[in-house]
Amino acid sequence: MMRKNALAGIALLGALALTAVGCSSSSGGDGGGDASGDELITVGFAQTGSESGWRSANTESMKEAFSTENGFDLVFNAADNDPAAQIAAVRDFINQGVDAIVIAPIVEDGWDDVLQEAADADIPVILEDRTVSASEDLYVSWVGLDFEREGTYAGEWAVEQFGDTDTKMVVLEGTTGSAPANDRAKGFDDAIAGSSIEKIDSQTGDFTRDGGKTVMEGFLQKYGVDGIDLLYAHNDDMALGAIEAIEAAGGVPGEDIKIISIDAVKDGMLALIDGKINFIVECNPLLGELAADLVTQALDGGTPEKEIYVDDETFTPEQAAEVIDQRAY
Ligand code: AHR
Repeated sequence: MMRKNALAGIALLGALALTAVGCSSSSGGDGGGDASGDELITVGFAQTGSESGWRSANTESMKEAFSTENGFDLVFNAADNDPAAQIAAVRDFINQGVDAIVIAPIVEDGWDDVLQEAADADIPVILEDRTVSASEDLYVSWVGLDFEREGTYAGEWAVEQFGDTDTKMVVLEGTTGSAPANDRAKGFDDAIAGSSIEKIDSQTGDFTRDGGKTVMEGFLQKYGVDGIDLLYAHNDDMALGAIEAIEAAGGVPGEDIKIISIDAVKDGMLALIDGKINFIVECNPLLGELAADLVTQALDGGTPEKEIYVDDETFTPEQAAEVIDQRAY
């Protein structure tokens, strides 16, 4: 039996079909075999990089799901947030003749050519986490989160709390051109339209803690602690960097400057419980099993669902305190 753990939910029929796929996969990468000698399915995974706590949890989930025990030979590449390097990595997977490719696209644009090359080589492509602007005919399926809805949840909470009072807000954006930066901005902006919240500045912190800290230092130099009421950070890591900057400037994060962020990774949740962040919208990084299931279906010749949305929750400090001990990331 090829897959023992993460794909245990797959019906016997699927597992048998999978064995057949595994046997034919030797046309792909060097495949090799698992302990029982079964052929492995070679999957190239083009990860964005390692910019955040969310990304580490996502990488771990993918590596667990695409393990040898589950019948996969994972070829992993992290592109350090460089879109050109990520496209080059995908091209490399095609040249290696992997059986399937999974991509967490750094940015939305620029994918048409390489996705067409994968299609020409008959290599199914699954997108996980982020989306692309290329035609959906060029990939089999996407699994991830509704980033616009995350922005909407964050914006609705902001309006509920501050919408009737003049509120000066700064924004730490995610990586420019990425789906979560685009969609979280749109969801939030639509939700606060017509309220008393005024966006006085918005810059990218590239989803990193250092980026969030540096950009927030700039905002604080320009407007002072007293000139900013609210920070909307597109992820927890940037919020955590901003917290350091606010404290260094003599401010109290969560009080002098209210903070909303997205992800709900462990460090973010701890800062929420501590009162340094005021509200977090979750973005679940545990997409590995779903992505592996989509690869399996694609190689079985099935027609997996085109889009699979994973649900998100929202957390106040009290709600975070209730769940922190049971969370996997
Ligand atoms: O694409 C998901 C985003 O990417 C997460 O919110 C962020 O932390 C990560 O780097």
